[in-house]
Amino acid sequence: MVAASVTALSMSGQEATTLREKFKDHFFIGTAFGRHLHWEQGQPTLKLIDRHFNTISPTNELKWQPFQPKPDVYNHGPADAFVDFGKKNTMYVVGHVLFWHSQTPEWVFQDDDGNPLSREALLQRMRERVHFVAERYGSRINAWDVVNESIMGNGELRDSQWTRIIGDDFIEQAFRIADEELPKAVELIYNDYSMTGKRKRDGVVKLTVELKRKGLRIDGVGMQGHWSVNGPSIRDIEASIVAFSEAGVDVHITELDIDVLPRHPKMWSGNADTKLNLQQDPRLNPYRNGLPDAIQKKLAARYASIFGLLIKHSDKIKRVTFWGPTDKHSWLNGWPIKGRTNYPLLFDREGQTKPAFHAVMQLPTNSNSQKKDNSK
Ligand code: XIL
Repeated sequence: MVAASVTALSMSGQEATTLREKFKDHFFIGTAFGRHLHWEQGQPTLKLIDRHFNTISPTNELKWQPFQPKPDVYNHGPADAFVDFGKKNTMYVVGHVLFWHSQTPEWVFQDDDGNPLSREALLQRMRERVHFVAERYGSRINAWDVVNESIMGNGELRDSQWTRIIGDDFIEQAFRIADEELPKAVELIYNDYSMTGKRKRDGVVKLTVELKRKGLRIDGVGMQGHWSVNGPSIRDIEASIVAFSEAGVDVHITELDIDVLPRHPKMWSGNADTKLNLQQDPRLNPYRNGLPDAIQKKLAARYASIFGLLIKHSDKIKRVTFWGPTDKHSWLNGWPIKGRTNYPLLFDREGQTKPAFHAVMQLPTNSNSQKKDNSK
C-alpha cells in the first residue's frame, strides 16, 4: 500500500477526509457522470459524488445528439435530472458541450432536403440551441464548454462541418452567440485534449488572445487531462497552465483520468475519434484480474505529482474534474477498445478509495493562495 492513513490537514487544522474539503481553498473538485447513476439501487455512486465533489459535468446528457436527436425532439429529461442534482447539492454545474464535431446529429448541418445549410442558417441553428438551454437552465448551469476540440495538434483550426459551412470564424461565432444568449453570470470555456503539446498550446493561447482582442468573452480554457501514467510530463502540463493563465483566463482541468493500460497509437494522435472501436488484443488488456501492486503504486505516485502541481498553481485553476466517479464508470473501459479493464480514477470498482486517493489526500496544501472559497 502506498498510503494507508489519511493525515491531510486542512487550513482549519482539522483532518480533511473528502476531496471537497481537502481542496476547498484551492479549486472546485468534481466528476462527470451519466444518467445511469440515477438508476442504481440506493444510488451509492451519487452519494459518493455528493460526499467528495462540489462540481459536476454530464458525460453525454447535454451533447447535441442525445439532447436534441431530431429538430423537434428535445430529450432534456436526463439533463434536467443532472442539473437538479447539482443544484440540490449546491454544486458548480458545468454544461458540456454546446458545439463539437462529435456527437452532433447530421440534421444540424442540413436543410429539409438534406442539402448543406448556408452559413447564416447554421449560425441561426446554433443560436436556437443556446437560446433553448439558456431559457431552460439559465445560470443554474454555471459554466459551458462553448466549443470542444476545434484546434489540432499543430495549432491550426480543425477541419469540420462547422468550419466548412461557417468558415474560419466558427469559434468566434460560437462564443459570440453564447455570450449574447446566456446570462452574463455563466462562464464560457474553450475545451480540448492534448493541451500540453507546444504547438497546440500556442494555438489555444493565440485563439484566446484573439477572441479577447475582438472584444469577445472567454472566461476559461479547459485542459481535458486524459493523461497516462507515463505522460505528459509535469513540466509540459505546467507550461500550459501558466500559458493559459497568462492569456487571461481561468484554467479548468476538465476530464482528468490517468490511463494505466498500454496505449494504442491511434488513440490520441490525429483526431481522437470517440467512435473508435479498435480490434481486441489481450496484450492491450493486461489487468483483467486486478491491478498489480507496482502499477497501483505508479498510479498513486503519478496522481501525487499531478496534484502537487495543481496545488502549486491553484491561484490559476478554477476547477479539477475527473471524467467519471469510479473505475467502474470510466469511459476508458470501453474506448478505444471495448471491454477492457482500466483503473484511471481515485475510487475503485466498489467505490472504495484507492492508494492514489490517499496519496492525493496526504499532499501538503497550505503552501498556496487562501483567496478562494470553494466550500459548499
Ligand atoms: C465520452 C463519454 O464519456 C462517452 O460515454 C461517450 O461514448 C463518448 O464521449 N472528450 C470529451 C468527452 O470531450 O465528451 C468524451 O466523453 C471523452 C473525450
